[in-house]
Amino acid sequence: MVGGGGILLAILLSGWAAARVTRPVEVLAAAARDVAGGNWNTQVEVNSADELGELAESFNRMTRELLRQRDQLLQTERVAAWRELARRLAHELKNPLFPLQLTVENLIRARQQSREQFDEIFLESSSTLLAEIANLKAIISRFSDFSRMPHPQLQRVQLNEIVQGVGRLFQAQLQASNPPAIKCEFELDEHLEPIAADAELLHRAISNLLLNAMDAMPQGGTVRLRTWQTDNSVYLEVSDTGTGLTSEECERLFTPYFTSKQHGTGLGLAIVQSIVSDHDGKISVQSSPGRGTTFRIELSKNPEKLKLAAGQRNRANA
Ligand SMILES: Nc1ncnc2c1ncn2[C@@H]1O[C@H](COP(=O)(O)OP(=O)(O)OP(=O)(O)O)[C@@H](O)[C@H]1O
Ligand SMILES: [Mg+2]
Repeated sequence: MVGGGGILLAILLSGWAAARVTRPVEVLAAAARDVAGGNWNTQVEVNSADELGELAESFNRMTRELLRQRDQLLQTERVAAWRELARRLAHELKNPLFPLQLTVENLIRARQQSREQFDEIFLESSSTLLAEIANLKAIISRFSDFSRMPHPQLQRVQLNEIVQGVGRLFQAQLQASNPPAIKCEFELDEHLEPIAADAELLHRAISNLLLNAMDAMPQGGTVRLRTWQTDNSVYLEVSDTGTGLTSEECERLFTPYFTSKQHGTGLGLAIVQSIVSDHDGKISVQSSPGRGTTFRIELSKNPEKLKLAAGQRNRANA
């Protein structure tokens, strides 16, 4: 009888001891899973002064330290990004300011010369000033475009029509004989289904790709705009026969401020990428130096969004 009681007590005691150990370990395991899932704010309750209590205390110290380091890293990254932006802006604005200053100094000097000479220099200087001011305005609007990218207003759109619209807009520039003419070819799938997209933003993205293609062909060449579709997506390719890019350059291409041009801001492709990703699309590039470059955009057909976009348009027209 006494023996039986002793065994029962032993079982109860070992059960209690096991629960005392396993429960805090389970709590710690759950908290560790939480941290692994990205919730670094996790803390566990410290209920005892033994090894388990110490373990819980160390766990809490670790998550506090992780949080502190993450905040510090974010601060450093933010400061670095601001520095890069300031450096880039200063560089871009300094370039056209220098000729502006020289031209005005020239004008002041010319004022002391004869009337005819002054008139001639005045005309020449005015056109330089206007060109450099236009350059400054273009840089500023590029930066402001990038900072205020609107969210897409989805409507039922035909990608082919947007591509043709961009082609028409650049026709004169493409055919100019100086720089040498660039042939523009269209290969548009006439059965392309409409998609839910922001026509204005897509127009802006395609224009940027076309402008880059033209810049890449200083000796002339061919740019091809091609569309096609699969069951779920529509595709657009802009290919050129220009200078091409190395694989290292391809990797850096979409980084803001990456440019190889004297007056480039390096924001064009960052804008294109942001427009494509705002449409839940994908952009990729294939290039070989000396042979040309192809940019491919994939946009999902997404019938649900298309129905919603068509509904919104009907309401707007009602
Ligand atoms: N089709 C292309 N062929 C060859 N290089 C290209 C092509 N498109 C882009 N690049 C390279 O990628 C760089 C970045 O292009 P991005 O459009 O972002 O800026 P940018 O054209 O230099 O400046 P911006 O667009 O402000 O005029 C270009 O400077 C160029 O070196
Ligand atoms: Mg560009």
